[in-house]
Amino acid sequence: MPPSDIALIGLGVMGQNLALNMARHGYRVAVFNRTASVTERFLHERLAGEPIEGAPTLADLTRRLSRPRKLLLMVKAGGPVDAVISELRPHLEPGDIVIDGGNSHFLDTARREEELAAAGLKFIGAGVSGGEEGALRGPSIMPGGPREAYEAVAGILTAIAARAPDGSPCVAYLGPKGAGHYVKMVHNGIEYAVMQLIAETYDLLGRGLRIPTAELAGLFAEWNRGELSSFLIEITARVLAHPDPESGRPLVEAIRDEAEQKGTGRWTVQDSLDLGVAIPTIGAAVEARILSSMKQERTAASQVIQATARRPRRSQAHVEDARNALICGLVCAYAQGMALLRAASAAHAFGIDLAETARIWRAGCIIRAAMLEEIRAAFARQPSLPNLLLHGAFRDQVREREASWRRAANLMIECGLPAPATTASLAYFDAYRAERLPANLIQALRDYFGAHTYRRVDREGTFHTDWTEGGPGTRENTPRNS
Ligand code: 6PG
Repeated sequence: MPPSDIALIGLGVMGQNLALNMARHGYRVAVFNRTASVTERFLHERLAGEPIEGAPTLADLTRRLSRPRKLLLMVKAGGPVDAVISELRPHLEPGDIVIDGGNSHFLDTARREEELAAAGLKFIGAGVSGGEEGALRGPSIMPGGPREAYEAVAGILTAIAARAPDGSPCVAYLGPKGAGHYVKMVHNGIEYAVMQLIAETYDLLGRGLRIPTAELAGLFAEWNRGELSSFLIEITARVLAHPDPESGRPLVEAIRDEAEQKGTGRWTVQDSLDLGVAIPTIGAAVEARILSSMKQERTAASQVIQATARRPRRSQAHVEDARNALICGLVCAYAQGMALLRAASAAHAFGIDLAETARIWRAGCIIRAAMLEEIRAAFARQPSLPNLLLHGAFRDQVREREASWRRAANLMIECGLPAPATTASLAYFDAYRAERLPANLIQALRDYFGAHTYRRVDREGTFHTDWTEGGPGTRENTPRNS
């Protein structure tokens, strides 16, 4: 039997579908799953003549591979990745390439790369997005690690990746160490933000304006044909149209309002704080999930705290405002994600190309959207663009909708509907475009209680004032320990 081109370890649905995807592109795949019965079932039920063979042990799996060996891990992030790697190591030889296709933390990926490099092994951390369907039909793939290792697997990854409308494959080498997983983490942060913005819009239209869910399905489907065209808007329309087989009512209404999370959104916010990059739309989305999960406490609070909320009449103007607010919120979410990638790329020495990142997000991944082609073009034309909000096309889009955006945010607030991502986006826009912010007062207060010093608008230098009445006044350039 000829050797297999690649091994796939971990036959969850993503793993199974990636194995099928590779096999359908002509690659011979050897698969392994810790629970052998899963492998057997997969080989029996899912194969239609694809060149996939199962291995009973990792030792056997590694014997089946052509050299240098290429192994794709699709196991749960965290401990399981380390466990599989340490079990694999005795069976590998220098030059072999291990790819982690899970949602691993980028620092774990950097550590694993270093550990394996000491043994001559190459490690690639690759974000894979697109869910089950994407894994089978073409995901967006975000690899990082040693470039020569990427070159050795580029053929396979390119073959199985999604194709953008212009035919280009949604995979690109993103940089060393954890660059690939970093980009995937930020992808997920944006994913959280987009979903939260959509949910807030649904809330305004549904609970606020009392538009029936079935009608909303049509509205989102219509929106999906314009500037909002994207995977998440498309599936929102489908979800809203889906009936509960038991009651015949929209199924979404029967789902508990507690959003779960596995951690990538939280990691995005954590690293943004460490880097000092503001990503408030993404942060609001993570916090909204946390608040949603406090179901019991919220339910109890709802009994004792009543708000004076407005009940507006449904109007076409309100609907249009909601759409415009959603577009502006999405621009802010992508702008923040890209700004974080730029800062992280410099801080972690990733060398991430933002235009390439936007290019490979145009198809296959969860945040794919028509808007991404414009984002790609913006960074391709001006790689040093500090923020998407400054780019002509986006600046104009937001400028045209600004008044409408404010009205929608206002309406959400007046209706008493929590709209953390929508309002955080608007505040981000207003802060980013502000020549002057009230941070002067913050500085004065810091100096008052802690002698932290401040700088003046009219001359250079560092100042400290004794703010108490009759105090000694202001001193210049006083070095202080804060
Ligand atoms: C993707 C998704 C995928 C997964 C999320 C879900 O790009 O295909 O992002 O990786 O669905 O990690 O994350 P939460 O469980 O945290 O919502």
